[in-house]
Amino acid sequence: MTVPAATPWPSLRLGVNIDHVATIRNARGGGHPDPLRAARIAARAGADGITAHLREDRRHISDDDIMALRREIELPLNLEMAATEEMLAIALRHKPHAACIVPEKRRELTTEGGLDVTRGHDLLADYVERLAGAGIRVSLFIDPDPRQIEAAAAIGAPVVELHTGAYCDAGGKTREQELERIRTGAALAAEAGLECHAGHGLSFDTVGAVAEIPQIRELNIGHFLVGEAIFSGLDSAIKRMRALMDKARAEASGQKSA
Ligand code: PXP
Repeated sequence: MTVPAATPWPSLRLGVNIDHVATIRNARGGGHPDPLRAARIAARAGADGITAHLREDRRHISDDDIMALRREIELPLNLEMAATEEMLAIALRHKPHAACIVPEKRRELTTEGGLDVTRGHDLLADYVERLAGAGIRVSLFIDPDPRQIEAAAAIGAPVVELHTGAYCDAGGKTREQELERIRTGAALAAEAGLECHAGHGLSFDTVGAVAEIPQIRELNIGHFLVGEAIFSGLDSAIKRMRALMDKARAEASGQKSA
């Protein structure tokens, strides 16, 4: 009996989120460190895309950053944005490769949970339609909750990004349970015809188990990489993350890692 050769899994893209380069720059109000320079380093270190969140309060990335990223960087730009008319107009003006709609609360430290697509159904459907109509690939940032995944498919979103924060923050048994929710969510998303991404809080320790999930096509990672850059440099931090993702993926798919 011949054993069929293992089919390689779809590749896993890395989107490097550069928000917190801007956080450090803004602490002193000057131009250093420059997020554009970080994006160039990310491109050389093996990122497949650059992700930036233009928040309503502009606490890190600015409008000028978005303009410069669109003008100067060849890698696809994934603009994270709240579902507001202001952000929609900006997205339609700059036409990034992708837009990821995220929930935003002014007082939160970071994006604390996923969108409630079941409640925001009509509003989100309208945003998805208008962004997609401009040729922008739209994703919805949601918790790995079957109801949210079904609602995202029902409004015609082509992509969902599953929030990995609960998995990354948890310890022990709870971490395994949270990981299982992501696995189940990714499988459900793929069954519903959605492209599945994941991100938030991922680190060298937590990335491997997520990279092993075959339906996940892209990870967006920022805070840990910028923090780690303080100790090892941004280039080295991104290269190591890339290597960990690729190794976990290759081993899980039964291929020999390079
Ligand atoms: N994905 C989305 C949708 C996000 O909002 C964020 C945080 O801006 C990330 C990924 C990256 O999260 P982290 O900075 O914790 O890696």
